[in-house]
Parts: sequence; C-alpha cells; structure tokens
Amino acid sequence: MPTFNALPGFRDFYPADCAVLNAICARWRDTARRFNFLEWSAPALEPLELFTEKSGEEIVRQLFNFEDKGGRQVTLRPEMTPSLARMVGARANAMRRPVKWFAIGENYRYEKQQRGRLRAFYQYNADLLGDPSPAADAEIIALCAESLRAFGLTAADFRIRLSDRTLWFLFLGSLGVPETAAAAVLGVVDKIERLAPADLLAAAAAALAGTALDPAKILEAVRQFTALGSLEEMRAFFANRSASDDGAKIAARLADWQTLLDALDALGLRDFVTPDLTIVRGLAYYTGFVFEAFERAGDGRALAGGGRYDALVKKLGGPEMPATGFGMGDVTLRNLLEEKGLLPAAAAAADFHAIALAPECRPALLADAARLRAAGAAVEYALKDGKFGKLIQAAEQSGARTILIYGPDELARGEVRLHDTATRAERCVPRASLTPETTAA
Ligand code: HAM
Repeated sequence: MPTFNALPGFRDFYPADCAVLNAICARWRDTARRFNFLEWSAPALEPLELFTEKSGEEIVRQLFNFEDKGGRQVTLRPEMTPSLARMVGARANAMRRPVKWFAIGENYRYEKQQRGRLRAFYQYNADLLGDPSPAADAEIIALCAESLRAFGLTAADFRIRLSDRTLWFLFLGSLGVPETAAAAVLGVVDKIERLAPADLLAAAAAALAGTALDPAKILEAVRQFTALGSLEEMRAFFANRSASDDGAKIAARLADWQTLLDALDALGLRDFVTPDLTIVRGLAYYTGFVFEAFERAGDGRALAGGGRYDALVKKLGGPEMPATGFGMGDVTLRNLLEEKGLLPAAAAAADFHAIALAPECRPALLADAARLRAAGAAVEYALKDGKFGKLIQAAEQSGARTILIYGPDELARGEVRLHDTATRAERCVPRASLTPETTAA
C-alpha cells in the first residue's frame, strides 16, 4: 500500500491545530489593527524571478520552483516581501504615505526539517513604507514586540536583537573593505556563530578575494565590533578609532540609534530590545536597521526577523520608496507558547446539543435548530433517534452547555426540555421562547 502522509516539513492541521493557528492569527490581526495597519494579500505562486533577483542566495537554494504548463518559471513564495514591494511599487504614486500594511500567509522553503523549521509555515508580515526615518523603524520594532506581548510573553521570554547594516557598511569601509566585498563579508558574519574557526577563515578569505586585506585581521576587527553590547560601547569604540572620512557619517548614524532607542523607551519597550551587532540577516535586500526576535531560553530560535530595505521597491520597478518591516512565523511561536502554557484556548463546544426521543419529534428539533443557528448560536443535534440513555450520554460528552430534549410529552405542550450538562438541572420552556441565551439554570 502506498502511504499518503503529508510531505516532509508540511503539516496536516486537525481541528485542534487549526483552532490554535486561528487564535494566533487573531492575536496578530488584533495587534496590527491597534497600530492601524491594513491587511493585504498576494498569490502564493509567483514568477521565479521575483525572488532570484533580490532575496539572496540562501533563499534561492530553498525555492520550491518548477515550470508551469505554459512554460513559465514559477515558484511557491518563500517570503512575502518581494510581492509587497511589487504591489506597493505599482500604485505608489496614488498612495498616502506612510503605507502601513500587514499580511498573514503560508510560505514555502525547501529547508532541512528541524525543530522550529518547516517547509511550509505561516508568516505574519508587517511593513511600513514611504518613510526613511528611525521613527518608522521604531514603529515596526514596537509592533513586533507588541505582537509577541499580545500572547502574554514578557521580556523574560523573548528579546529583540537590534543591529544595523548601515553601521556595518561604515565600519567595514573604515577597515578598507571595498563596497563590492562588504555584502560577502556580512554573509560570513551571518555564519560566525555556526562555522568552525578554520572554515570561518576560509570563508573570510573567499569574501575578501581580490583585495589586499588580511582575512585574519578583518575577522579579529569584526569580533571586536560584534562584542559591542550597547550604544555607549559603540560610541566608545568609534571614538577610539582614528578619525576617518566617514567619521561624520558614523556620528550621524549613532545619533539615529539614539533616536530609535529613545522612541522605544518612550513606548515602554526598551527592555525588550538589545543592541547586538552579530545580527546581519540572511536576506540580501536589507539596508539599515535589522533585528531578530529570539526566545530567551530553550533552543533560542528566531521568532521574527526584519529590518529596513530602502532599495527593494525601486529594484522591482517601482519608484524610490524606503521601507521597513518584519516577518513572524507560527512554528517557533507556537512551540514557545506551548512551553509557557500560553497557548490560546482551543475551540469551544456547541452552545446547544439537541436530541429527539421519537421520529415524530424530529421536525420540531430541526426547526428550532435552524432558528437558533440563524440567531447566532452554535447548535448540533443527534442525527439518529434512539434510546434516551444513549442519546443523553452522547449529548453530555459533546461538551455542549445545554441539551435540548424533544420528547412527545413536551412537544404536546409546545415545550422543549433543557438539560444543563454541568449541573444536570432541567426545566421546560415554550419552544417559541428559545433564544441563544436560554439556559437550563
Ligand atoms: P525571515 O527571517 O526569513 O524574514 O523569516 C522571518 C520569520 O519567519 C523567522 O524568524 C521565523 O519565525 C519564520 N520562518 C522563516 N523560515 C521558516 C521556516 N522554514 N519554518 C518556520 N518558520 C520560518 C523574512 O521572511 C522577511 N521577508 C521578513 C520581512 C518582512 N522583512 C521585511 N519585511
């Protein structure tokens, strides 16, 4: 027999799983609404080129791509940001800025399946386009933090590690790393925690090939830079270095850091954010402040990641449009909420469960069920008539709050018997008086 399991890294969502996913999405939506972000959506299948051009090597290796029957090169989307950039770019001139949009959708990446990493996952995206200032970065980071706090998570559970590709490029420039090699060096920094020393050195040498720079020395300087854990340390670090042409740019950038951190402080979120220059982000389009939200304990996986991408809209054919945003997945978040006992409650049982004690009672049951449903109550009923004992047992097990019993005697009086599953209290009421609020108590 062939097996018909879901593909590796894909999930079947049984109702209890769906209830959790829906509850997570509801919290995300509510938080985005409180920040006045509008919901958007886009196709899950996109032209391959949308991602091969701008997202970077790592994601291109993970694409679920194929040729469609019309000979088009297409791919399931690994992320939503390029689709967003295309859509905003196409209508940018008619849009009031800033554009504040959020989306929830399934993304697909051919990754090695492991805890927290699947091949299909839901991702909540929030992006703010049309404003280049640190105030916009602050708003996006605040929404990221509040979207996690909405589940009851605290500063003890997660933190947002904040870094800055602008500062990285200025720093690498001050070391003499040419602009053409800087992105490759950041690619090495991205792997600094994962690679063995010899592999790291080899990767640095490859990134710096064609320059006269000593990879070991650059790595040493990079280590000093990534050790800086606060804005004060960053200031001291640059103050101690000989003044370079970029001194004024670095000072201006550190002032942006101050503005960003001050805004987060005033929003009451400073405790959630730690400067951490080891974060450079794997995606190629980021240009400025970048950040990742991490679990504080456990295997410390990323809950969310994002940053500024000021060039992407233009690169995809739109006008000049600075942008910043983040993506948050359902997989690591669900794992963390489970560990902390914070999973939103599963779906509730029906309000009413109706049983008919004889075939001639069934039309009344059906009529009342239809009326209660139309009025908004969740109603189920036994599909077969049968012995009272069996029916009432099944009805009680269904978890419904109130059982409606349709027997010949009650119906002769135009009534229905109500039975409370918790207390077993009973009373009869006229059928015409039944409303979603009626209870046996
Ligand atoms: P990303 O860092 O690739 O960024 O993904 C963001 C989040 O999506 C991750 O922190 C993780 O929670 C979740 N995620 C990513 N890959 C997987 C996977 N294979 N399995 C489970 N969860 C996963 C982006 O996607 C950017 N487009 C975010 C963004 C929006 N930047 C600006 N705007």
